[in-house]
Amino acid sequence: MAVKLGLVGTGTVGGGCIEILKNHKQAFLRHYGIDVELVRVCSRNPEQAIEHGVEDIFTQDYTDIVNDPEIDIVIELIGGTTVARNVVLESLKAGKNVVTANKALMATYGEEVMAAAADAGKEIAFEASVGGGIPIIDPMKHSLIANRIDTVMGIVNGTTNYMLTRMAEDDMPYDEVLAEAQAKGFAEADPTADVDGLDAAAKIAILASIAFNSRVTIDDVYAEGIRNITPLDLEIAKDMGYCVKLLAHAHRTEEGIDVRVHPTMLPLDHQLSTVNGVFNAIFVVGDAVGETMFFGEGAGSGPAASAVMGDVLEVARHIQMGIPPIVGCTCTDAIPIVPMEN
Ligand code: HSE
Repeated sequence: MAVKLGLVGTGTVGGGCIEILKNHKQAFLRHYGIDVELVRVCSRNPEQAIEHGVEDIFTQDYTDIVNDPEIDIVIELIGGTTVARNVVLESLKAGKNVVTANKALMATYGEEVMAAAADAGKEIAFEASVGGGIPIIDPMKHSLIANRIDTVMGIVNGTTNYMLTRMAEDDMPYDEVLAEAQAKGFAEADPTADVDGLDAAAKIAILASIAFNSRVTIDDVYAEGIRNITPLDLEIAKDMGYCVKLLAHAHRTEEGIDVRVHPTMLPLDHQLSTVNGVFNAIFVVGDAVGETMFFGEGAGSGPAASAVMGDVLEVARHIQMGIPPIVGCTCTDAIPIVPMEN
């Protein structure tokens, strides 16, 4: 019997998930034996439902999904920390597994959400919350689990990387490149989160929590964005042999965890200096593996939907095979967070 999916949110990422399901649902079954079926879609916007051809399973009330006993996995793609938090917590309480792309939620209420999943004995998966289409959370939780991670560092906001690239390469003014990033669907609904470094702060808080088995929230992260950077700054930096990137840092130090986001001058021959446009890249340094780097498109419909659907299929596979979720807290080390003035 198919694993039943309920989708909340039909914007850039939700729309991408519907399209992936349309294109590849049969291949999931044929190649991997994973049988999933989208049975309900919730959105504030009926036109988006029509655009994606899901008007027959459309509702404007998310409780229709939470209260539907048939649904096994709720996919939360509305973002933010108010309604989305209710959707996620109520779904878990109702005995559903949850897949979300919501970095603000996980970076602010991650502890509460993980505890709710553990209480319910259900899975909460959030690969798409960091790095768009780049697999980074899953590798840190699985392939790299044998390491003591010492550093996670990189470019984790596609909007600002796109803006800095266009400003440097095409001498375009800030407002124009921001409008362009919004039009391409990279920027958040309120792009303040992108340009002030808060989106990157949420993402590095999530990565630091996983890397250091700790609790790092967005409030623990010093964040400085790119508002004050001009094409002239970038030109001068280039003349000096540097580029400017908005870097997110998380380092294990003797004093504790050092987490911060700020524009950083990088030598032009540094690996991260070659990461341009909407691309993201994340360095992870482990005591056994050494340096690794994860690279890919950090924002946009297809990349984010790829990460969401990867989680959905993995959870669906667990359900089909009767594999119970790993529950319980892995955050046993109370490593202090090095305070920084915002
Ligand atoms: N606004 C985000 C970015 C979207 O530009 O990276 C992906 O999280």
